[in-house]
Amino acid sequence: MALLDIRKAGDPVLKEVCQPVEKIDKKLKQLLDDMADTMYESDGVGIAAPQVGVPIRAVVIDCQDEHGLVELINPVITFREGKATDTEGCLSVPDIFGEVERAAKVKVDYLNRRGKQQHLTAKGLLARCIQHECDHLEGQLFIDIAQSIHRGQDK
Ligand code: CO
Repeated sequence: MALLDIRKAGDPVLKEVCQPVEKIDKKLKQLLDDMADTMYESDGVGIAAPQVGVPIRAVVIDCQDEHGLVELINPVITFREGKATDTEGCLSVPDIFGEVERAAKVKVDYLNRRGKQQHLTAKGLLARCIQHECDHLEGQLFIDIAQSIHRGQDK
């Protein structure tokens, strides 16, 4: 297990448009493992590679639902439906929360760690997480698009 340093808002790596993963090798698998360890240790539900200083298109998510740990390599959201507004936070923006409108349902195409093309349809928290993490790959933080921002969990 290895914990990685989480980059905080203001770090330029969080503003980068991330590069596609070209090769799924041992190094990438180690990074995914370390990202998951870091996410669980920080009580997060998702983390994107740029948040640990690596500007490539890879994210891990675990919303504690039936999907468990989801690793998305080169994710592309191919379908969005409906609207939902809810509170979000981010490991890179500690103690700040905001109300963010997202699609209620999404479909995402991605590669798994065996390089196999996968498709996932998600709603609820997982759909929100996928959109939040994919935004990280475009250099966008939730505070850039939130309708309102507040300190602490309470509105
Ligand atoms: Co985030």
